Amino acid sequence: MTAIPPLTPVLTDNWDDERSWTLASYEARGGYDALDTAFAMTPDEVITAVKDAGLRGRGGAGFPTGMKWGFIPQDNPNPKYLVVNADESEPGTCKDVPLMMASPHTLVEGVILAAYAIRAHHAFIYVRGEVLHVVRRLQRAVQEAYLAGHLGVDIHGSGYDLDLVVHAGAGAYICGEETALLDSLEGRRGQPRLRPPFPAVAGLYASPTVINNVESIASVPAIIRNGAAWFASLGTEKSKGFVIYSLSGHVTRPGQYEAPLGITLRQLLELAGGVRAGHRLKFWTPGGSSTPILTDEHLDVPLDYESVGAAGSMLGTRALQIFDETVSVVRCVLRWTEFYKHESCGKCTPCREGTWWLVQTLARIDAGEGQPGDVEKLLDLCDNILGRSFCALGDGATSPITSAIKYFGEEFEAGMHTPSRELFPPAASTAYAQEVGV
Ligand SMILES: Cc1cc2nc3c(=O)[nH]c(=O)nc-3n(C[C@H](O)[C@H](O)[C@H](O)COP(=O)(O)O)c2cc1C
Ligand code: SF4
Repeated sequence: MTAIPPLTPVLTDNWDDERSWTLASYEARGGYDALDTAFAMTPDEVITAVKDAGLRGRGGAGFPTGMKWGFIPQDNPNPKYLVVNADESEPGTCKDVPLMMASPHTLVEGVILAAYAIRAHHAFIYVRGEVLHVVRRLQRAVQEAYLAGHLGVDIHGSGYDLDLVVHAGAGAYICGEETALLDSLEGRRGQPRLRPPFPAVAGLYASPTVINNVESIASVPAIIRNGAAWFASLGTEKSKGFVIYSLSGHVTRPGQYEAPLGITLRQLLELAGGVRAGHRLKFWTPGGSSTPILTDEHLDVPLDYESVGAAGSMLGTRALQIFDETVSVVRCVLRWTEFYKHESCGKCTPCREGTWWLVQTLARIDAGEGQPGDVEKLLDLCDNILGRSFCALGDGATSPITSAIKYFGEEFEAGMHTPSRELFPPAASTAYAQEVGV
């Protein structure tokens, strides 16, 4: 049996504390103490600490966070801005919302540290509008932080000032794309911007802007408190630190598992009680629906950026959606593609038109009414979207399709004559729904 590395609760460590979301609870564990450590350092030293820690963006692409902060041109006379991307809307991704619900002050403390490092005096948390409970929790946490002197003028007597605004989006997946987010934050319809210029040079209000994911920013207080070397000692050579892995779907104990980068799905499943009783793993996503699916062949792939990439997928947001043998790959991919079609912002033709055609073609295969050449048509459509779209939404829409055809091509071929509902009768899933009481 594989040895299971210990879980590393850092971000999640206080989640089951009594009223963990309150300032009193957070401060009782030394919350906001990292500010004094940081204020004794220069902003550049804080950036260096984050670089040395090896923290990489947790929003999907894994870009080095300290390097991103270092791109902010300090000789630019415009104000500098920090924007936290809390739009979390990718199917399967569900780590930022629980983090903000359980411990909003971890994020607020991280915002202050990051803003200090890039010399910003205004920061924003752009949060997905549908999660009103999170919006309220963040607003209350920010209010508490102001009243306690952690935000506002002359924070902790350091001479540093920071204002933090919680801004609710209006419910669009595309507003998680960082430049669409900026347009939305400025009050416009959220659509991606042409790059260059990159946000570091001309972002919010055409000023230098850092945009980081919730989990990236929330990881900073622990780095300042415990040191870059401590953080870098966790994880792998190139993927350092700990992350939240979100297990969902056909797993015995779904939930958030915080572990060092490089743990495998087999190890996580052992911790989570395995695939639901009596069933076996069929396919899974390593990082949400935009990352190519993997199968039971990939149970021992270390879940770090490099290894998942070498296995033909992407680590993405570590949204590990587990599907057992009762699930039709075609039906699942159709559902995801319907999502991308709905969320396509319409700015560019390959994605706007292509996702529509993908849904038409997948729907008839799902109905058992596929036409000869439909699988080739799907691949051709994907080929015309991937790399030809204006932003990564289009690319992401093709990932589940091309990977599903690669591993389960015969299910797509079967859709020429047999509907998915006959190949994978819903009875099996209905029985499961009754078993878990949904
Ligand atoms: C369609 C689309 C949706 C995205 N949604 C999110 C999101 O909800 N949260 C997020 O942090 N990043 C999201 N991203 C990635 C962001 O554009 C950006 O890379 C990220 O916020 C950078 O933060 P990081 O460097 O801390 O990972 C999305 C990207 C695309 C193309
Ligand atoms: S790829 Fe899709 S979401 Fe992105 S700009 Fe084009 S139409 Fe909009």
